[in-house]
Amino acid sequence: MNNGKQRIMKSFRMEMVGAGLYRSLSSQYRNSEPKLSERFSAFAGHEYRHGRMFEKHFLKTYGETLRGGRFWMFLGRVMAFLARPLSLRKKMKRLSIIESQAVADIETSLNGSGDTGMNRILSIILPDEKAHAGLYHEVFHGHEQQTACEEGIR
Ligand SMILES: [Fe+2]
Ligand SMILES: [Fe+2]
Repeated sequence: MNNGKQRIMKSFRMEMVGAGLYRSLSSQYRNSEPKLSERFSAFAGHEYRHGRMFEKHFLKTYGETLRGGRFWMFLGRVMAFLARPLSLRKKMKRLSIIESQAVADIETSLNGSGDTGMNRILSIILPDEKAHAGLYHEVFHGHEQQTACEEGIR
């Protein structure tokens, strides 16, 4: 399988896992942390939308339908379930690392040449990923930051 194909599949998978994970976190914290729960719910919507963009791009480029979306979302929910014993703070630390890495990866891809269709999607999703990373930055550092947050999370 070629690299481009694998890249879209990986991006699709990560977005769908993220959608399931955030959806599940949103319901877990609906009562105890209603404001945060709303943010998680919005993030779930973003990740789902991102996943659909990759799905459409894949279909357009390769004429094939990407399968497994429901499974990856389910996997995200399982991950959220398994993380239940962790404190909210610990979960958010982990999410912070993942989201900051997503921002850094997108920025690297956009700086390289790459495929135009892919870059168009990446530039649409970048502000969302920055907002996701920004929430954790706000929690751990007391203010929002628009760029990849690397200090303090390693
Ligand atoms: Fe995303
Ligand atoms: Fe994200």
